Amino acid sequence: MNANKIFLCLFMLLLTNLNYSCKSKTGASASTSTIVPLLVDESKTLTRIALGSCNRSDYEQPLWQPIVDEKPDLWIWLGDNIYGDTEDMKALAANYALQKNNSEYQKLMRSTPIIGIWDDHDYGVNDGGKEYPKRSESRDAMLDFLDVPKSNPVWQRDGGYQSYTFGEAGKKVKVLLLDARYFRDRVERRRKEYPQYIPNLTGTILGEEQWKWVEEELKTSDAQIHIFGSGIQILPVQHNYEKWNTFPQERDRLFNLLVKHQVPGAIFISGDRHIGELSKKEIEGLEYPLVELTSSGLTHTYENASEENNLRIGKLTDQLNFGFIEIDWKGDKPIVDLEIRGKGGKLFQAYKIDYNQK
Ligand SMILES: [Fe+2]
Repeated sequence: MNANKIFLCLFMLLLTNLNYSCKSKTGASASTSTIVPLLVDESKTLTRIALGSCNRSDYEQPLWQPIVDEKPDLWIWLGDNIYGDTEDMKALAANYALQKNNSEYQKLMRSTPIIGIWDDHDYGVNDGGKEYPKRSESRDAMLDFLDVPKSNPVWQRDGGYQSYTFGEAGKKVKVLLLDARYFRDRVERRRKEYPQYIPNLTGTILGEEQWKWVEEELKTSDAQIHIFGSGIQILPVQHNYEKWNTFPQERDRLFNLLVKHQVPGAIFISGDRHIGELSKKEIEGLEYPLVELTSSGLTHTYENASEENNLRIGKLTDQLNFGFIEIDWKGDKPIVDLEIRGKGGKLFQAYKIDYNQK
């Protein structure tokens, strides 16, 4: 180590200590210190992935320590990563900065590579789509928050969708982070009627460019597991809030692509709902069930939530929660554990998918 590197290390150590000395009750820090993000190293084989959503930067954030305790190889943000809800980009940046200065979150930043996608509140408008006038500027703010390197192709196109392929041959995980906001056609809302959103039978969630990208990613993939991240839920159809099924043809299009390309190990992960739940659906032409892990929220939930979901496995969780995926690579095909956990690492729900079984 040369003298410059030693000086840099001492400087970073000093910043770190300064930061911990200014901690507030919510974990938000008055420090302006910068954490150098961990490299997202796609050559690494993943066995432990943590994920979560719905996180108010000004609320207490008690789950980062239990998340770090699980020693994940990767953290995936699934949207409403902050509650920006603004067209003021300075206010949005300040909100992201508050989150990055949260000393509890900084424990994750120091220990775990981080990727992610947004939902409506960090995008900038509740239940918003392509009509949001600041979508381009907000996209850049999200990528800055996530420290996405300028070499990532996402910077060269519109929208926030990204893909990452981790691991050695035969143990590959492709993560496709879908952008369900930037290109989404308008949805019409109605009050006191079911469903709250009038189904849009001709519009799009992803937009044609993103769909082309998804298909190309699937067609050329040699991964054994494909994790699709979406802010809003993909499988559940019964609840009254935003979901892929507001655009049923888009949901079918995703299923059809999985069948067409015989995509192995497709798993959905989502947030948004302020509940945690696991859902499962058999698709004709796919030899394994599609399972969706919904984890929301990290700082606030719908307490005493109860709603119908005929695809649900087990029970709904209305406590603060994060999602956890553990992959066993020992067999011919992987075995995947999907879990919803809470404070102290408490296990609320779990489901195992063994891809060796037909
Ligand atoms: Fe949301």
